[in-house]
Amino acid sequence: MIRRKRTQAAPPDGPEETFEPYEEFRRIPLPVYWIAIALAIWGAVTLWDNAQAVGVGRQERAEQIEETPAAALNSGAQIFEARCSTCHQPNAVGVRSAIPPLAGSRFVAADPAVVVQILLHGIDGPIDVGGRTFDAHMPSFASVLSDAELARVATHVRQTWGGDRQEITAAFVRVQRARFAGRGAWRGGEELARVVDPALGPQPSAGPAVISAFADPAVLRLVNQGRGEAWACSSCHGAAGQGGANIPRLAGLPEGYIVKQLQDYVTGRRRNESMQTVAGALTDAERRGLARYYSGLRAPSTAKPELGGDVSRGEQLALYGDWSRNLPACFSCHGPSGFGVAPGFPSLAAQHPAYTASQLAAWVGGGRNNSDVQLMNEVARNLSDADRRAVADYLATLPPVPAVTQERR
Ligand code: HEC
Ligand code: HEC
Ligand code: HEC
Repeated sequence: MIRRKRTQAAPPDGPEETFEPYEEFRRIPLPVYWIAIALAIWGAVTLWDNAQAVGVGRQERAEQIEETPAAALNSGAQIFEARCSTCHQPNAVGVRSAIPPLAGSRFVAADPAVVVQILLHGIDGPIDVGGRTFDAHMPSFASVLSDAELARVATHVRQTWGGDRQEITAAFVRVQRARFAGRGAWRGGEELARVVDPALGPQPSAGPAVISAFADPAVLRLVNQGRGEAWACSSCHGAAGQGGANIPRLAGLPEGYIVKQLQDYVTGRRRNESMQTVAGALTDAERRGLARYYSGLRAPSTAKPELGGDVSRGEQLALYGDWSRNLPACFSCHGPSGFGVAPGFPSLAAQHPAYTASQLAAWVGGGRNNSDVQLMNEVARNLSDADRRAVADYLATLPPVPAVTQERR
């Protein structure tokens, strides 16, 4: 916490200014740094305690739902509590202007294929629920939950809030899974109404997939055409900055963080042949312009778990850390939901697992040596190989940073 305040106090507008605050950190004595970490952990634990308190109420509700003890271990109500209630709230009323309610929603009462398709692919675009428009991200649950679990949670949601007694079966989910296999998130209510169930009625339509709050024409030329050795960023990072495999997603990373990485490639604190060439060919002003562009870019996630990691272990590490391994929670530094804390802590949500794991390995191996006071070297060293894959796969299941929460200068 102490560190964050210091970073934010310095305006990261020029290369020298950006570099200086980081230089200062190295002079922070180690004990002070550990106190800062302890405070961060204390914050996380307090949050967790509160979540537990709320959880007790939820638990009582879940217990009222008649189930045999064996089935109750993994009932639709319990899956809802574990996977849905943090966003949609325990009573499914949603969060004003951010998360739509399920109670009384047309999507929940519509053809059963609608809820199942939303769970399988997620939604990422404008949607009208009860006369109000929402435009946020819901992640896909296709790789997190089995067909049987998806069937149970969908049945629970429709029976509790959609007024339909019909049971959705695992076989029905399997058919729905095959129907649009390989597609990305639904692009809002309009596409769902057109493709899945016309009875959803008129729905707002999605605009262009790529939106950046900052679209300077000179910056766009660098992104799409490049110049000399500053090869077009989009040729590797994708048209929407979504990355893929070993190439990082840039969309939504904090502006200050991107500027610092480009400088670190130039000074050799971070090593990668392509990026050292590209970053070296850019002027300071261009690096800042590109950082601004990518930090304001909003693009759906294309990441998915691919390393065979244990996703629930990954979630545990991200949210609570592991005392026995001397690991603080990733989110105590990288922000709740892994959305990052500008300017110094990058977002991890929706990053590609192969890339995330490669960076954790690079800190151990010395290919990346640009973390101030060795914050990440320490974290990476304490992670086992299985834990690296677990946390990298978990992070890929998260929705991407909503661009509006990014710093605006
Ligand atoms: C990370 C937050 C998050 C989680 C977790 C989440 N949702 Fe959603 N959900 C959303 C958002 C945001 C939308 C609206 C998306 C948009 O604006 O395009 C949505 C939309 C929906 C909709 C359609 C709109 C409506 O209100 O009826 C349904 C149905 C739904 N979610 C069900 C679920 C179920 C069931 C789960 C658990 C398996 C779940 N969601 C988990 C955030 C979440
Ligand atoms: C030839 C392919 C290629 C091109 C072209 C390219 N990049 Fe990269 N970029 C990469 C790879 C690969 C990495 C990961 C390198 C590593 O492991 O450090 C990367 C990493 C980065 C990072 C660090 C991201 C993070 O999460 O830490 C930034 C920032 C970045 N690139 C910006 C750009 C910009 C801006 C451009 C255009 C001017 C560009 N890149 C062009 C391949 C490329
Ligand atoms: C004490 C604070 C702290 C904790 C705890 C922490 N990180 Fe970091 N992390 C950082 C900082 C600072 C950076 C940026 C370093 C730089 O400037 O390059 C970073 C960068 C990263 C990056 C590079 C992102 C990119 O886009 O290249 C990854 C991956 C990462 N952290 C993963 C994790 C994981 C996984 C955990 C939990 C096991 C974790 N971090 C816990 C401080 C922390």
